[in-house]
Amino acid sequence: MQIIDVNVSKPYKVFVGENLIENTANMIEDICNYKNVVIITDDIVETLYLDTLKKSFPQDKNIFSFTVKNGEQAKCADNLFAIWSFLAENHITRSDLIVALGGGVVGDLTGFIASTYLRGVKYLQIPTTLLSQVDSSVGGKTAINIPQGKNLVGSFYQPIAVICDINTLSTLSDKIFSDGMGEVIKYGCIYDKNLFELIKDIDDKNVLEKIITRCISIKAEVVCQDEFDTGLRMILNFGHTIGHAVEKYHNFTDYTHGQAVAIGMIHITKLSEKFNTTPIGTSDKIKALCEKCNLPTECDVPNDVLFDVCCVDKKNLNNVINLILLKDIGECYIQKLNHSEFKDFLNL
Ligand code: GLY
Repeated sequence: MQIIDVNVSKPYKVFVGENLIENTANMIEDICNYKNVVIITDDIVETLYLDTLKKSFPQDKNIFSFTVKNGEQAKCADNLFAIWSFLAENHITRSDLIVALGGGVVGDLTGFIASTYLRGVKYLQIPTTLLSQVDSSVGGKTAINIPQGKNLVGSFYQPIAVICDINTLSTLSDKIFSDGMGEVIKYGCIYDKNLFELIKDIDDKNVLEKIITRCISIKAEVVCQDEFDTGLRMILNFGHTIGHAVEKYHNFTDYTHGQAVAIGMIHITKLSEKFNTTPIGTSDKIKALCEKCNLPTECDVPNDVLFDVCCVDKKNLNNVINLILLKDIGECYIQKLNHSEFKDFLNL
């Protein structure tokens, strides 16, 4: 088992390894005291891992569980009210522990519930998808969606620990696994050329554990320097500005987040090569790796539409677009462009 320290304002550890869910209670024994446990999960993960997780806790604990429907729609206000009410009806207090068992949707929703119910209850993340293991479960971002947009309401609230059981990845469909690979490739691009090379051997399970551990270490390093997302943390958004526009253009239906990020990383790097801000050939290297990982590589959104969508992105401040560009594979920088410069960048 690998252990990564996340040294934010309330430090915690991320555990990565096999057969961890069945040892959950042992693993958190020295980390926190708690009376009752509330597990929040979805209807797919429930059938696979809920019993194993429940059995890991001592018999004197009351274990409650709340199941939402699998999918992005679960990150909604209706579920917030339903879960807050469930917690109150079962007399859950700050002495208890909330556990997120599932992918990014369950993690984001549970984190937000934990940060708001009684102004904050301890919570544990047990991410069960590749994307949530390498990205969303670490760093304390919580969120729900409202009709006006995804993740528009949320908080920063760190878990007491994150348990990444890589056995859970064996039950993922190829599409959901490659969704996570979009984010994995991102870490190689922005931070670590050796990781980028290692990803070519992803099919080997020992290599997979090494890759996941490295991605989480990178995320931890970045988040420790910018917990509240005011500067450096932006580099984790490489490929996301265009990726988000691709998702939006396709009404969030045709592409998963990781697929859209893959398209975004390649497209922004191609544009940056034309703009002489990235060495020629870099986008081809990313494209080849994305192809190997069964990720889409072609951007079908016209540049003028990209311009319009990117200019209204909630991450822009004072009409400045922060683009994450590559100096080379493994090294990135933040390029600030105003709207007219961004037009030039897009060759419009
Ligand atoms: N997913 C990007 C971040 O946590 O900042």
